[in-house]
Amino acid sequence: MEFDRDTLISWLEEKDTTRLEHLYSGAYRTKVSTVGDKVYLRGLVEISNICCKNCLYCGIRRDNHAAGRYEISSEEVLQSAEFAYKEGYASLVIQGGERTDRAFIDRITSLLKEIKRRWPLGITLSLGEQPLEVYREWFGAGAHRYLLRIESSSRELYEKIHPVDSLHSYDSRVQALKDLRTVGYQVGTGVMIGLPFQTAAHLADDLLFFRSLDIDMCGMGPYLEHSQTPLYQYRSMLLPQTERLELSIKMVALLRLLMPDINIAATTAMQAIDPNGRERAILAGANVLMPNLTLAEVREEYQIYQNKPGVGEDAAISSSRTEQRLNEMKIPIGWGQWGDSKHFEKR
Ligand code: 5AD
Ligand code: SF4
Repeated sequence: MEFDRDTLISWLEEKDTTRLEHLYSGAYRTKVSTVGDKVYLRGLVEISNICCKNCLYCGIRRDNHAAGRYEISSEEVLQSAEFAYKEGYASLVIQGGERTDRAFIDRITSLLKEIKRRWPLGITLSLGEQPLEVYREWFGAGAHRYLLRIESSSRELYEKIHPVDSLHSYDSRVQALKDLRTVGYQVGTGVMIGLPFQTAAHLADDLLFFRSLDIDMCGMGPYLEHSQTPLYQYRSMLLPQTERLELSIKMVALLRLLMPDINIAATTAMQAIDPNGRERAILAGANVLMPNLTLAEVREEYQIYQNKPGVGEDAAISSSRTEQRLNEMKIPIGWGQWGDSKHFEKR
């Protein structure tokens, strides 16, 4: 479908619920006819909340000294991988704060090799900006998808939500996304929705940015304020959380119509606002879900935003809840399938 910038903006501002239901069901039908009706599951392991960056919105930013830091052992990551494999997830996402020291890079490399040696799991990494050679090393060790959100494609807004220094450069972020493509990854990016200073025009431009970058996967979700971050001071500017969720669902639907054959995730932040948030995203075009497999003992520490759902639960509970909800909605699960991006396969 052809959407110009103005049409996208007016959809993002649309309030009529009947028209919106049409948009969502149209996006759902587009999903079913291009990538199928299945939802693919990726077990999510939050390997560490140690981060060298200071993003102004994030609860695990370097300068938040109130956050207790953890790193889970390689043995524990392998246990989660085994759990994912036995559950039939077929894919694993390894996510963590950004670190670029050699010890960390080596550790990820050997973990990847060990996981691939033991199980035929698809592996997605979400470990921030890294030099091209590191992306290469991890690709060679067995990772084949990488998630790196642009957070906002507007340079101006990006610079309002990050410190302006060499560690948080907009240009480096865009370059990293290009490097990932060069190496051969399926590349995923995304934005936060409902940020202070963000307009419908910014979000429309984000969607067009995804298309111009020709991304393979996308994960977007509502921005959620965290009291121990600098961005918290702007909380009075924010839309109510339910409206941030509605905007996020619109973004999913519009992106599905704009890029019919990519993978789009229903994200945890949606679930933080509404227990049915991820399911709503699935009915508006999302086709990937990432049940949290992080060990219950450390979940509390990985609070990029407050009131993150599932804190205190363990992997078995989170995943059986997820499956139960999908069953109730009669949404089939792609058990045992990697569920790679069709967009990538066609390229
Ligand atoms: N609210 C919502 N999402 C957030 N992230 C970080 N902090 C927040 C927040 N306060 C998201 C960012 C990052 C991803 C791992 O988590 O988009 O890329
Ligand atoms: Fe670190 Fe990512 Fe949080 Fe930024 S968003 S502070 S890079 S964990």
